[in-house]
Amino acid sequence: MYSNHSHKFQLNNNSLFKKSSLIKGSLFLALSILLTGCNDNDPEVIVPVDPVVSTLDADIRAIIITQNLTGDPSTGRALPDIEEPKAQLGMKLFFTKSLGGDLDSACVTCHHPMLGGGDDLVLPIGVDAEVVDLLGPGRIHSVNGEHFDGGPTVPRNSPTTFNIALWDNFLFHDGRVESLGKTPKMGGNDGLGIRTPDVPFGERDSDAGVNLVVSQARFPVTSKEEMKNFSTFDGTNNAEVRQNLEQRLGDYGNPLGEMLIVNYWLAEFKEAFSDPDGTAEELITFDNITTAIGEYESSQVFVETPWKEYVQGDDSAISDVAKRGAKLFFNSRQDGGANCSSCHSGDFFTDENFHVIGMAQIGRGKGDGDYGTEDFGRFRETRDEKDKYAFRTPSLLNVTATGPWGHAGGSTTLQQAIRTHLNPQEELNNYDFSQLDPNIQAVDMVINTQRVIDKLVANRADGLTSIEDISLTDTQVEELLAFLEVLTDPCVEDRECLSKWIPDASDTNPDTLRINAIDGDGNYL
Ligand code: HEC
Ligand code: HEC
Repeated sequence: MYSNHSHKFQLNNNSLFKKSSLIKGSLFLALSILLTGCNDNDPEVIVPVDPVVSTLDADIRAIIITQNLTGDPSTGRALPDIEEPKAQLGMKLFFTKSLGGDLDSACVTCHHPMLGGGDDLVLPIGVDAEVVDLLGPGRIHSVNGEHFDGGPTVPRNSPTTFNIALWDNFLFHDGRVESLGKTPKMGGNDGLGIRTPDVPFGERDSDAGVNLVVSQARFPVTSKEEMKNFSTFDGTNNAEVRQNLEQRLGDYGNPLGEMLIVNYWLAEFKEAFSDPDGTAEELITFDNITTAIGEYESSQVFVETPWKEYVQGDDSAISDVAKRGAKLFFNSRQDGGANCSSCHSGDFFTDENFHVIGMAQIGRGKGDGDYGTEDFGRFRETRDEKDKYAFRTPSLLNVTATGPWGHAGGSTTLQQAIRTHLNPQEELNNYDFSQLDPNIQAVDMVINTQRVIDKLVANRADGLTSIEDISLTDTQVEELLAFLEVLTDPCVEDRECLSKWIPDASDTNPDTLRINAIDGDGNYL
């Protein structure tokens, strides 16, 4: 695929970078393009550097150009800063249990920055936890809770909220919040409308809000298992839940349940929406609540990865093992690669589309199929047979921090998540159930996952999928893993760096109902 000529220009390129570490980013791309024009008599070409290593760099830099990578998926977007007033209000709303029907669950329950923007659990526990503020491993469902059967009540793994504003097409594993226009870099805010589960598939929800993130925030409060619970708001529809919540926070009207005992939300909304004379009815609306939450979430941009530094010109930003992993990741099978970027494509490492790949189906499921423990994935929305068991391709930025992996959290190591792609049948046959807490309902796992794999095999026969079984050596899997590791922004592993997104004693606590998250050992997160 690469001619001798392009090979030389890459060597040449390297020599330039060794001399000047200042050359970065787009300048680098511009240079690379210019240099393709160099002829073979160029006196600069012969450079005494380790030939093996520079071939590796040359190969990857060629891939970077072919796949149009810049290293940074956040450019060209209007993204808020966490210090902005609306994002600050959104943070407080994200952390308060007052948005939970029975005051026992908040957004942060399943999306804590210290837990990779998720909850570190295979499957989440929202309402009725034994210890409400205990997040992550050790969080269990109370024996007195509704529908108690020992296990988690939520059927899918909590995705990360990190980089959530970088999605342009869909949110949720099955894409049930969907931009109808799918304009790149617009996050659904392209004027063409957003479909949500409140309206039929394909239609525009006129109440959806400005972008995908805001639209999504309308829904967790309506889920009994996540936030609504089974008592105070019992029997209410989605619109009624939202109305009850705005009235509860706004201290007006006649919402179900008690009014908040402590309530200083109005002052917070006046400040965030720069409206000192606004009334609670005007300011504390569900639209403003989700707007603020959306701003907070959208400020969680974590893209400063070693990979970005590498793409933007620093050859020493990642190890040789990671570089070999990169080649496997990006190259097609004909070129000796594992073809990962056919789906995990671009700077955000996702094609924002749906595929059947054969990840384990565990837990209660979404009520599909013979046992009700299946999850038909995208098919639930489109009713198109080819979408049965298809899930959205996740981004792989910060993937080391966002486990367990897969839509049902069935892979508790990254290695396993990778291997499942390589040969799902073998992974299923050898699935190690001891990786799951005994309380995870896995009774139908083998039968349900087998159906997914059978569908994958059928899709292949019908030419509907790009994923084939691949045999890789253990070393190659380690290389892929090393590559995935350089896709993590060090900030997400650093409490100090994340502290801007976690309220502390200096932040007001308008209803005293903030989650003060602790881990299973009782330490503050
Ligand atoms: C009990 C756990 C739980 C709570 C509480 C919760 N979520 Fe989630 N969240 C999930 C799960 C599980 C999903 C995936 C659901 C699906 O795809 O069907 C999800 C999906 C999301 C997504 C989409 C992520 C993506 O990659 O598409 C966002 C954004 C999000 N939640 C934000 C919020 C906000 C905002 C709140 C509070 C209003 C909240 N969540 C409350 C568990 C929770
Ligand atoms: C055919 C498209 C496709 C290809 C090719 C592909 N993936 Fe995936 N990948 C997906 C989808 C879809 C999921 C989510 C599946 C689910 O949740 O059930 C996923 C999930 C993952 C996850 C788990 C992420 C998370 O947040 O849960 C990792 C890690 C991953 N892929 C890495 C890879 C690697 C490495 C390769 C190459 C060996 C690869 N993928 C090839 C589509 C693909």
